[in-house]
Amino acid sequence: MKETRVDSLKDKIILVTGAAGAVGASVIAGVRAAGGVAISTDLKGADMTLDVTSEADWQRVVADIRQRHGRLDGVVNAAGIVAIGSIEKLDFTTWRRVLSINLDGTFLGCKYAFPLLKERGGSIVNLSSVSGLVGGHNLAAYNASKGGVSLLTKSVALLGARNKPPIRCNAVCPAFLEGPMVDDIAKTARDPQGAMEKMSAEIPLGRMGKPSEVAALCLYLLSDQSAFITGTDLPIDGGLTAR
Ligand SMILES: NC(=O)c1ccc[n+]([C@@H]2O[C@H](COP(=O)([O-])OP(=O)(O)OC[C@H]3O[C@@H](n4cnc5c(N)ncnc54)[C@H](O)[C@@H]3O)[C@@H](O)[C@H]2O)c1
Repeated sequence: MKETRVDSLKDKIILVTGAAGAVGASVIAGVRAAGGVAISTDLKGADMTLDVTSEADWQRVVADIRQRHGRLDGVVNAAGIVAIGSIEKLDFTTWRRVLSINLDGTFLGCKYAFPLLKERGGSIVNLSSVSGLVGGHNLAAYNASKGGVSLLTKSVALLGARNKPPIRCNAVCPAFLEGPMVDDIAKTARDPQGAMEKMSAEIPLGRMGKPSEVAALCLYLLSDQSAFITGTDLPIDGGLTAR
């Protein structure tokens, strides 16, 4: 077996959404450290402004990449939001916002990157979640959006497998990670510190994941080391979905 080398993304052009966030920023740093060219995008605080729900933004960003680089080798669709709420509590506006960013945004990312990726083959990594694999009574919109991302991933993978060279597409499914998303969830609880401890206790390994651990999995999936992996949902969850 080949070893994973630090330059395993040498000269690969990789587009990352949600790049100002915990996972996205870690992926950007990892791509650069692995010798690749990372194009960071987010609503603000990135190389390029890209609202993942906007078709016009996607068209502009992809046209810019085509002009500057002439190709694209990988995409990490990391933009996402969470909203706590059961079907009883969640209002329709919030439902639509979560579906729009998490699911429509990933659809548009796959759709608009695909023509560029087709030319030389490539790898798409979609950020799903353990919440795309198992349900939670108060995560109606998030569950639906991430479940959608996981099955969308399989559809894209099967289409991409027909391309020569192939375009691979995989979903990574983290459990709670250290960072602003989980901090915000905890803040909605009466006892935020207790809520953080409860979330860690739910994980068999007894701690939250680190954005850098998720980024390392994304880098592997972007690299040619994972050339035979496509259409998967890969939990990175400290054992949460093992029980
Ligand atoms: N943090 C976790 O515990 C966790 C667990 C499982 C899955 N995930 C998923 O991983 C991904 C990354 O999460 P994170 O922890 O980095 O979250 P984060 O909140 O740190 O970052 C998310 C980023 O997405 C950006 N974003 C929001 N709406 C956008 C839009 N319309 N267009 C473009 N960008 C937009 C935000 O500006 C932010 O920078 C998300 O899809 C999330 O659902 C996170």
